[in-house]
Amino acid sequence: MDKLAIIGGRPLYGIVPISGAKNSALKLMAASLLTDEEIVLENAPRLADVDMLMRLLDQHGAQSSFDGATLRLRAKDIKSTEAPYDLVRKMRASFNVLGPLLAREGKAKVSLPGGCAIGARPVDLHLQALAAMGAKIDLDEGYVIAEAPDGLHGADISFPFVSVGATEHAMLAAARAKGETHISNAACEPEIADLAECLNAMGAKVSGAGTSAIHVVGADRLSGVTHRVLPDRIETGAYAMAVGTTGGELTLANTDVELLGAALPILEKAGLSFAATDDGVKVKKERDRCLAVDIETKPYPGIATDLQAMFMAMMTTADGVSRVKETIFENRFMHAPELSRMGAKISVDGQTATVTGVERLKGAPVMATDLRASMSLVIAALGAEGQTMVNRVYHLDRGFERLEEKLAECGALIERVSE
Ligand code: UD1
Repeated sequence: MDKLAIIGGRPLYGIVPISGAKNSALKLMAASLLTDEEIVLENAPRLADVDMLMRLLDQHGAQSSFDGATLRLRAKDIKSTEAPYDLVRKMRASFNVLGPLLAREGKAKVSLPGGCAIGARPVDLHLQALAAMGAKIDLDEGYVIAEAPDGLHGADISFPFVSVGATEHAMLAAARAKGETHISNAACEPEIADLAECLNAMGAKVSGAGTSAIHVVGADRLSGVTHRVLPDRIETGAYAMAVGTTGGELTLANTDVELLGAALPILEKAGLSFAATDDGVKVKKERDRCLAVDIETKPYPGIATDLQAMFMAMMTTADGVSRVKETIFENRFMHAPELSRMGAKISVDGQTATVTGVERLKGAPVMATDLRASMSLVIAALGAEGQTMVNRVYHLDRGFERLEEKLAECGALIERVSE
């Protein structure tokens, strides 16, 4: 298994091209099952998660290929409506093939998902939405078996709490359902608006995306599309926090800092400055040590849970005491003991971690059990004294494109070690 060897303490200077958003690309790829025409996704990130979904879509009948950052997908005919355990268990977003298959073919059998080990993460809201649209759903031996022989129909769907995946899943299915669907308490993440834009260009009528009330008028037939994937806001935040941890100044290209939502003023308060450029943003550390700031994760536009671990890494060497509250997932502090192994002072009490900033962390062998937590260890390592070995790099390969290359080009001492 590959590891990353990082020698910390070097400020970062240079340009980092921000990739297309993984979380958006995965749902846009699932949309390819809704049409027999070609979907072209520009600015698509080449990531292990994207590869994995390409494999799943291939066995459903959607052929796909990359040319640079352009991903072409075409599901001319659906070969199989079954998504096997082996291909779904590794990545929760794979579950989003269920709705499109059901809408197009009237049936689907999809394994219950796996994904990052950050809590129970059930799919009850996804199933609730599809059932409201007329799907008959059974669970059998770890599989969801769904049928809608006469197709799906529009419905009023009111989610009891905000779920990004369930909102997207409902939109995907509603785009090819008969009639109108109203989704209330919808997620407002930028990736939802990106999906809506793509579905609209395919011929569905989606309005309200980006607000908590989404309206979808389904279409009998959807067409192909060329769509540009929006920039990855989590990657944008990650590089900003790398600067916050180790110092320097980076130009983050192909991104929009506004995508950070409420994280932006928090990062400014901690000591980073942001200046818009023609196609991105310049981020600079303005203080010797960051200031400790409290955060609480929230659905968008609140502070993204996906930035929480990296923010905690940045706070380990901040001046003062920071409280980090996680409200989206129940088990998302697994990076805390690993950061402590590097000398961080963190105590966790339920959903809140209290981080007392220390002058400097010390390199150590570390590993994390999920993607964003692994990135928090990379960020901590960039600021730490000496060498850190980050194990289980495959987590990072799932979601951060060319990570070590991008960092090395800006002066970081980082190397992939294969075993
Ligand atoms: C997506 C993102 C993930 C991010 C998360 C929250 C992708 C591929 N992943 O995940 O990176 O951390 O949004 O911003 O886009 N829940 C249920 N029942 C459901 C669905 C969700 O109880 O049917 C719970 C989850 O366990 C979690 C909360 O709702 O506690 C929010 O999850 P959700 O917004 O659905 O996250 P994902 O779409 O899985």
